[in-house]
Order: sequence, then C-alpha cells, then structure tokens
Amino acid sequence: MQQYSDKSGNNDNVPQKWYSHFLNHSCSPKTFTMRIAIIADIHGNFIACEAVMRDIRSQAPDLIVAAGDLALRGPHPAESMDLVFSECRHVLIGNTDAYLADRYIRGAYQEQSHWKTELLQWTRERLGPERLKKIAELPFSLSLSPYPGQSVFICHANPKNLEDSLEPTLNESSLRHYLEGIRARVIVFGHLHFPYRRRVGSSLLIDVGSTGLQRDGDWRASYGLVTFTPTSRKVQIRRVKYPVRQATQALTGRSVPGARMLAQKLLEARYQKHPDFLQAARRFLGIAPNRLQEPHRAFQSFPAKPPSQEPQNANPPPACPHPLKRP
Ligand SMILES: [Fe+2]
Repeated sequence: MQQYSDKSGNNDNVPQKWYSHFLNHSCSPKTFTMRIAIIADIHGNFIACEAVMRDIRSQAPDLIVAAGDLALRGPHPAESMDLVFSECRHVLIGNTDAYLADRYIRGAYQEQSHWKTELLQWTRERLGPERLKKIAELPFSLSLSPYPGQSVFICHANPKNLEDSLEPTLNESSLRHYLEGIRARVIVFGHLHFPYRRRVGSSLLIDVGSTGLQRDGDWRASYGLVTFTPTSRKVQIRRVKYPVRQATQALTGRSVPGARMLAQKLLEARYQKHPDFLQAARRFLGIAPNRLQEPHRAFQSFPAKPPSQEPQNANPPPACPHPLKRP
C-alpha cells in the first residue's frame, strides 16, 4: 500500500473504498476512480465556503483537501476555519496562515500603522489561541499516488515556498525552477486566486483558484476536482455562485479593519495584470486570444447597487522570495 502514503508515510489519507479494494483484489482496478476535491484561499469568506462545500457534497469526491489561506481577509475567520477542518481530510498551510501563526510576516502586515496589521490582530482575536496553534502545525504539502504512475502533489503557492505565485505568464524555465524534485503527474496549488491549467513536461499544473476571494474577473468561488483512473487523469475547475453581497455586508457589519477595501476587492475580483493572465490562461487551454480586451466589469461600480441579476456565465484575472521552505 506504499503508493497511498503521504509525505510522513502514514496511510491515513487512503480513501476507505480504495483501501479495501486493494486488500480484496476482488475486481479490476479499472472499474474504480478516485476523485479529489481541492479548495484553496478561503480567506474567512464563510458564505462562499458554505456554497462550495454544498457543491462538493453534490459531487461526492473521495476526499477533500484545503490548500491554505483559511482565515485572513474575511469577516468569518473562525467559522470558515471550523468548516474547513470539519469537511477536509487534509488541510495545508498558506502564507496568510503563516502570518496569523507568527511563523513569519510579509509585506504591509508587518507595518505598524497599516490597516493590514490591524486586520491581522483582529483575525487572531477571532480565532483564539487554540485555532492559532492548529494553524501553526499545518503541513506544507501533500503527496498522494492513487495508482502507480498516477500521483498528485498539492501545496499552497508552489513546491518551494508559500509566497511566489505561479503566474500563467511565467516562462517554462522559471516554472521548472519551482518544480525541481517534484515527479508528480499532477501538481495542484492556489495562492494566485486565478484558476488555470497548464502542461509542463509530463506534469499537469492546476491552479484551482480561490474559494473566498477570486481574482480572475469572475466573483464566483472556484475549486478543483481531479479524477484519477488507473490510466488517466481528468481535471475540472468548478465555479460556484454565492451571495457575494452578503459577504461584503458582513465585512462592514462586523467592522473588519479595511472592510471597504476588502469588499471592493471581492467585487472587482481581478488584478491589474488581468488581460495578460487571461490571455496566457486561454492559450494553455488552446482557446484563441480574446478579442475583448476589457475584462468583466459586473461589479465595478461598488458601492453602487449591483445588477439585480447576478451574472450567469461570468467566465471571462506578486512574487517575493521568502522562506518557509518545504520541510
Ligand atoms: Fe490567498
């Protein structure tokens, strides 16, 4: 059963039906599939997280993995974290989890008078010491091999650290630097909040996007669903509608530091580099370049009233080296 073990070598991650299947050898393994749902970047958006969990339940995967950034930047850090821990078999650490647990702090979160420092403190108070301790102990990555030759590596940002984004515009040699030593056929991550997939050598890279703070021009939550059979892998990025206005109202209603800014980011849901990212992501999917250069603008008028009907098919959007190396 070695092929099922995680980095620590234990078999706790083995879905029960698979485990018993391999013990019994009662039928062809080709009749079996293993489905893994991967969520990332929940960022304390409990309303989005609940909607995503409902969708995941409807898909009935064998296991759910959370790839970090659980609580910071949202109105419901404790509730989001509790939901993630109750639903996910494995929970990995993200960069903002590391900031909360004081493993290290980057950017404006370490500036004395910045609203992000206030937000960090506000979130820590909502989480309390027990949850913070739990966050500090989260592992960096997870490796699974459902079948020989069918392996998946999951981490928050990239296989080397918690900070550098694997942007779709990165050239292949830069990407290969981050993938050194990783032999998995499928490499799954989040952090960029911009879902896309891309092939590099024999590996398939999948950014599952963000559950709680999307940045690809589409405010809907996203997550990944990977289906393995003995001979193939199938990837689906699922998008889930949720009442985004309730989430922005919770930010102001709960007096979250920086609430107005955070709400605006939630509604804009895109980067300044959006067109470049979008074109790169489309290229990897084999889709022709998008002639529409203006990104999706459904909610750009914040705080004006949003459209009465949420968009049905809104489908069109920083790198820094620091530590917390892979153990
Ligand atoms: Fe994030």
